[in-house]
Amino acid sequence: MKLADNKATLSFSNGSPDVELPVYQGTVGPDVIDIRKLYAQTGMFTYDPGFMSTGSCQSAITYIDGDKGELLYRGYPIEQLATQCDFMETCHLLLYGELPNAEDKRKFSRTVTMHTMVNEQMQFFLRGFRRDAHPMAIMTGLVGALSAFYHDSTDINNPEHREISAIRLIAKMPTLVAMAYKYNAGQPYIYPKNDLSYAGNFLHMMFATPCEEYVVNPVLERALDRIFILHADHEQNASTSTVRLCGSSGTNPFAAIAAGVACLWGPAHGGANEAALNMLHDIQRQGGVDKIGDFIKQVKDKNSGIKLMGFGHRVYKNYDPRAKLMQETCKEVLGELGLQNDPLFKLAMALEKIALEDEYFVSRKLYPNVDFYSGIVQRAIGIPVGLFTAVFALARTVGWIAQLNEMIGDPEYKIGRPRQLYTGAIRRDVLDLAKR
Ligand code: CMC
Repeated sequence: MKLADNKATLSFSNGSPDVELPVYQGTVGPDVIDIRKLYAQTGMFTYDPGFMSTGSCQSAITYIDGDKGELLYRGYPIEQLATQCDFMETCHLLLYGELPNAEDKRKFSRTVTMHTMVNEQMQFFLRGFRRDAHPMAIMTGLVGALSAFYHDSTDINNPEHREISAIRLIAKMPTLVAMAYKYNAGQPYIYPKNDLSYAGNFLHMMFATPCEEYVVNPVLERALDRIFILHADHEQNASTSTVRLCGSSGTNPFAAIAAGVACLWGPAHGGANEAALNMLHDIQRQGGVDKIGDFIKQVKDKNSGIKLMGFGHRVYKNYDPRAKLMQETCKEVLGELGLQNDPLFKLAMALEKIALEDEYFVSRKLYPNVDFYSGIVQRAIGIPVGLFTAVFALARTVGWIAQLNEMIGDPEYKIGRPRQLYTGAIRRDVLDLAKR
C-alpha cells in the first residue's frame, strides 16, 4: 500500500484540536483513511458495526467492484477463469499468486490428489453424529477435528506447516463432504480415486456405490468445477473475516477454517443457496409462476420478515458476475439431463425477470447473486439441498486458506480486537441476596 498525496483532517465542534490522518492507496479501488492512531490521539474509537466503511486488512488476492459487477482473482476476471481455467489452476492462483504453467499444474494437482484420503479414524468420529444431522453441523465438527488427526501441521507460524495444511484442507474437504452425505444416506463411504479430476472425484465419492462402476459425466464434472471456481474466494466476506480473526490469535489452520465453516452456514451468507431453493419450492407448492406476484408483495412488506433469497449483496450493486456464469451453467446442466422444462428453473427465471423490473428491487439495486442459480444446478446434479452449503464450504476453503496465510505473512498483522461503545450500567455495588 502506498501513501496518498492527500491527508484526511478530522475536526471537532467542541474545540478539540484537529487530527490529521494518513490516506493510503491500493492498486485499484477506494483509498483508505488510516485510523490506527486515532484512539491514542483523541481517546475516541470509530463506530462501524457491520463494517460498512471499514477495511480490516490489506490484501492482494481478490478485488470486487460492486458498482460495475466485477470480480478479479489476483487480477484475472472471473469470466476468464471460469471459461479458460479449471479449479486446480484457480487454487494455485489464489494460493501462490500466479496461474501455473503445465508442469506446475500437473505437480500441484498430483500433490492435492495424494492427500485426498482422510485418516481412517475419521469415520468413527463421524459415526458419533445422528444420521439426520445437518451436513454443516457435521462439517464444522469434522474440519475442527482435523487438527487432532494432523498434529504435524498445526503451527501457523511455520511456513511448511501452513503449506501442507493448505494442501490437506483443499484435498480432504471433498472427501469429508461426500462422507457426510453417505453417512446421512446410510451408504458405504467411497474412497477417492486418483485418476479422476478434483470435481470428478467428488462426484465419484458422492454417487458411486461399491455395487457398480460409476462413470463421471463430463458436463456435470465441468459444471461442478465451475461452481468451485465461482465460490473460491470473495475478499473480506463474513466467513473469510471470521477465519482471519480466528487465525489472528495464532490458532491452528484447521481450527480457523472450522470457524469459517460455522460462519458460512448462516442464511445471509453461504446458507442462501439452500434457502433460495427452499423458497422456490415453497412458491411452487403454492401455485408456481402465478403466485410470484403474491410472493413479491410479501417480500416488499417489511413486517413479513421474508426476503427474496439469492437476491441482494453487501458489495454488488449490479448483477453479480458469478450469477451470470451460474445461469449459463444451469442451462447447460439442465440441457444435458433433459430437464430444460424443469419447473423450478422456469420459476427462477420468471421471478428474476419480475424482480429486476420492480421498483422496490431497482431502487435498492438488488440483483441476483451467485446463490440464485447454484441451488438449481446442484439439485440437478443430484446433490441434496441440505448439502449445498457444504459444497460452498468445500470451494471456499482455498480462499480462506489463501487469506489466512496472507495475513500471517503480513508484518503488520496483530490479533484482531475490535472495541465497543459501552451502553450498559455504570459501576454499581452488589447488594446482599436478602436486599436485592
Ligand atoms: N429481499 C428483499 N429485500 C432485500 C433483500 C432481499 N433479498 N436484500 C436486501 N433487501 C433490502 C433491505 O430490506 C433494505 O431495504 P430498506 O433500505 O428499505 O431497509 C435494503 O434492501 C438494503 O439491504 P441491507 O439488508 O441493508 O443490505 P446488506 O448489505 O446488509 O445485506 C444481504 C446484504 C446479502 C445480507 C441481503 O441482501 C440478503 O439478506 N439477501 C438474501 C440472502 C442472500 O441471498 N445471501 C447471499 C449473499 S451472496 C453469497 C455469499 O456471499 O454468501
